[in-house]
Amino acid sequence: MMKVHARVFRFDPEEDEKPHYQNYVVEVNEGARVLHVLQAIHDEIDPTLAFRYCCGAGQCGSCAVRINGEPGLACMEEARDGMTVEPLDLPIKKDLVVDLQPFLATLPRICPRGEPEVPDREKVELLKPLRSCIECVCCVSVCPAMDVASFDGPTAMRQELRLALDPRDKGGDRVREAVSHGLFTCTSCQACWKVCPKDIEIPGKAIEKLRALANREGLTLPRHQEVARLVRETGRSIVRTGPTFLEDAPEVIEPDGPVKATVGFFVGCMYNGRLPQTARDAMEVLKRNGIRVIIPREQVCCGSPLIRTGQVDFLDTLKKRNIDAFVFRKIDTVLTMCAGCGSTLKNDYRTPFRVMDINEVLTKFGIEPPARLPVKATYHDPCHLLRGQGIRDQPRELITQVVELVEMPSICCGSGGGVRSGMPEVAAALAENRRKEIEKTGAEIVVSSCPFCEFHISEHTDRPVRNVTSILLEGYREKDRKKAKGTVSS
Ligand code: SF4
Ligand code: SF4
Ligand code: FES
Repeated sequence: MMKVHARVFRFDPEEDEKPHYQNYVVEVNEGARVLHVLQAIHDEIDPTLAFRYCCGAGQCGSCAVRINGEPGLACMEEARDGMTVEPLDLPIKKDLVVDLQPFLATLPRICPRGEPEVPDREKVELLKPLRSCIECVCCVSVCPAMDVASFDGPTAMRQELRLALDPRDKGGDRVREAVSHGLFTCTSCQACWKVCPKDIEIPGKAIEKLRALANREGLTLPRHQEVARLVRETGRSIVRTGPTFLEDAPEVIEPDGPVKATVGFFVGCMYNGRLPQTARDAMEVLKRNGIRVIIPREQVCCGSPLIRTGQVDFLDTLKKRNIDAFVFRKIDTVLTMCAGCGSTLKNDYRTPFRVMDINEVLTKFGIEPPARLPVKATYHDPCHLLRGQGIRDQPRELITQVVELVEMPSICCGSGGGVRSGMPEVAAALAENRRKEIEKTGAEIVVSSCPFCEFHISEHTDRPVRNVTSILLEGYREKDRKKAKGTVSS
């Protein structure tokens, strides 16, 4: 047996003015699940504790709660001493029980055709990853777009695609239905996928596929069509606002000291055409830290803006041009500093080379310590870096060498998934949520590691927004200044 201390959220809207937490101690078997702890509390200490469960085996979805802040199934998550158990972040009925009705009511249901018809093999393959949903609504509880827009949410979109592909459904045009229920408000943040107990990859396997079907029906948003035209005509997804990074950059940048590694640099459209100085800052930091950089000029857009918006007909051309550019130079490691490009090259390409984000490269090979700056900073996790590439600790490891870091919740800023271009009012509402969290930290600056996040957040906060490498470079410049004045040793 083991003793478990649990802090449990309690709230009875009919009795309590506000929620509170109650501490309990129970004895349960070794390896007990969170559900066993809740049952022990209910049976041995407090029979008024309200929570849901049914199958006890991860099949019905009714027991979903937040455990130490993360949504999960109480019957599947192992109980840990000192854990906090809270309801999903949804309207509360009592204690750990949330109101599922509004969300389940929006789930499209199959309308049987009557005569049997079997989906073909291609459709079966697309349907397979969508079938295992247990309607636990964990995904709904974390979706940022649902908070600010009229959007039925991730699992409703999953179900729309499932029915759109199923010839046994006669429910009408499911793609058009998905569009009218908010298909284009999803920012591709991947929060839904990361909390799904059935590991259903809703952004890639449902939202993007539905958007591709919408494209075939001529339902792509006009602004997204413009971006696709731009990529076809110029190889780039944004209009340049001055000299680009690639126009000015040398083909090879040799490091100051001994070579620790050689990488090929994939710059991405935003750092190339809109924020080239940030890319130059990054090159300075790499140069100072022994990384030799090769920069193929013929590289083009990675295709992310097309994939996220369902316009994939030109994608293979882009992929081939990019892969050829690096393979031709026999590059075995390609470095990205745009979170979206990095995630796309890692997850949507099949490359004969390794792809590494700049935060991975700098922490793997180590950096010269910069001078500390008397600045309090907060860090915005780009969705495509944190969830798209699993990179959380590396930027923090770098930032804390220069400035004081104050954490804030990792929420989407609203710039991804084509939302900034296609639905600017939704992107602005999400950025406003981000701004409020930034304000709460009291930080003087915001640091991030994605040009889309940096550009978008800077439009919605009065704090300067800096890239991780620009902050490092400032630390090096300060170090050099002090050294020149003789106040610091190398
Ligand atoms: S990817 Fe993000 S915005 Fe899109 S459905 Fe999932 S949680 Fe919502
Ligand atoms: S998609 Fe996953 S997280 Fe969402 S309701 Fe279904 S099983 Fe739960
Ligand atoms: S009780 Fe059925 S999934 Fe947990």
